[in-house]
Amino acid sequence: MGTKNRDTWQYGDFQTPVELASEVCAVLTRLGIKASAILEPTCGRGAFLVAAASQFPQNHILLGVDINSDYVKEAQLRSPAQVEQGDFFTTDWQRILNRYYGSWLILGNPPWVTNADLGLLNSTNLPAKSNFQGYQGLDAITGKANFDISEWMLLQQLSWLKERSGWIAMLVKTSVARKVLRQAWKHCDPVGRAVIVKIDAMRHFGAAVDACLFVLPVNIGRTSRDCDVYPALNAPAPTATIGFHDGMLIADVDLYVDLHDLTGVNTNYVWRSGIKHDCSKIMELACLAKNEILNGNGDFVDLEPTYLFPMFKSSDVAKGRTSTNRVMIVTQREIGEDTSLIESAAPKTWAYLLSHATALDRRGSIIYKKKPRFSIFGVGSYTFAPWKIAVSGFYKDVRFLKIAPVGGKPVVFDDTIYFLPCWSEEEADFVLALIQSDPCQKLIKSMIFHDEKRPITAELLKRISLERIAKYLGMATEYRRYTASEKLDQYSLEFVV
Ligand SMILES: C[S@@+](CC[C@H](N)C(=O)[O-])C[C@H]1O[C@@H](n2cnc3c(N)ncnc32)[C@H](O)[C@@H]1O
Repeated sequence: MGTKNRDTWQYGDFQTPVELASEVCAVLTRLGIKASAILEPTCGRGAFLVAAASQFPQNHILLGVDINSDYVKEAQLRSPAQVEQGDFFTTDWQRILNRYYGSWLILGNPPWVTNADLGLLNSTNLPAKSNFQGYQGLDAITGKANFDISEWMLLQQLSWLKERSGWIAMLVKTSVARKVLRQAWKHCDPVGRAVIVKIDAMRHFGAAVDACLFVLPVNIGRTSRDCDVYPALNAPAPTATIGFHDGMLIADVDLYVDLHDLTGVNTNYVWRSGIKHDCSKIMELACLAKNEILNGNGDFVDLEPTYLFPMFKSSDVAKGRTSTNRVMIVTQREIGEDTSLIESAAPKTWAYLLSHATALDRRGSIIYKKKPRFSIFGVGSYTFAPWKIAVSGFYKDVRFLKIAPVGGKPVVFDDTIYFLPCWSEEEADFVLALIQSDPCQKLIKSMIFHDEKRPITAELLKRISLERIAKYLGMATEYRRYTASEKLDQYSLEFVV
């Protein structure tokens, strides 16, 4: 990669065309923003400074900062703004903001780059403490937490304005705008009714991302937990309102409020994730023909069927496949079960695991520490339910699929799939009918953000009360019939060993 490309990437350098900056400033005026002090914290070549100077001629202060000295010179020449060279992460913003005690408009287009990209580039263009708030639990432990630098910058800007007042108006990925909203709403920050206006990032920046103009008033007018979504910069009215209800972000507040009676905690039907083993080359195998099993390293292996279970991956579920030639080695029936039992129950399987112990023992995640050798996660009696209703958490296509046993054994999933265990085909048909019913689909629609990389989340699924949907559809008796008896672990005992 050339130095220029590397710099473009590490500094998330997508300069805004002046026409777009002008359109954005015109939208801000339409929204009633009257800015007297304007700051562009990563101003680049100054497109926004030029546009703001003409759209807000009454401004007292127009300031720009950028890390790139060439851009600073260019912006100084192009606009009447005061432009300084500075690094966002070390600039003394309080000193700058203390120059004016009225409302600030913090305007612009922050870098489009994630901490993972910067990691790949060995770049230090990062906040000093990059494992910042909001990333906890398994994601933090397994190091999956990945965030956009712009998200961090916007949260900083929000913290500046909490002590003062003003507006944040930034071009960002739409998912970043929503993350900032979630954070602000969750912490009851003094934010007003926000606005998201979709922009065509491909047309303006040649970037295939969902992006928007995000406007967040802080300490201005009444506080609100709503955000109007406009489909385009010239759209006269919003097409939906995003909000925050029951601790989660909602895509269409009106629809959600209408269907709120269908939400609630599921006790009978609990969504589960598939199995986590972090070693697909060894644990996931392809059955080419009878007795011909190939592992991910391309080696033929000879294993007893005892611990082998037919397996679906996310792509199988997303594409609606109903058969598979893949199998997974399921070493435990429940988390923490003693795996040494495998040695006598299936000696060839045990020998295979031992021969790949280096790879399995090397699994870095802390969840495998102090657990029996060859442990897996996301396993329990539900894993062995013969029928399942599954949906992929990995694909944009949201398709709920009924999964039948294969070769007399229950199908297992990788950890990118969510599923509900069912104990008969009739029950699976019943559960699928509830999920595919009109009210349930509308409820999902009210919660889902289709432009997210992974629109289906555990949080969303958890909110759907199948019990209330059954009641609403006049199917409460049937629901009770399927959920009355405990469905126990006996199934797992039947299937393994
Ligand atoms: C997406 S571009 C946008 C530039 C300008 N705001 C515009 O709208 O045209 C991001 C800008 O952030 C600047 N930048 C990247 N990292 C920075 C940092 N740590 N501190 C200050 N500026 C930075 C880059 O030099 C680049 O000009």
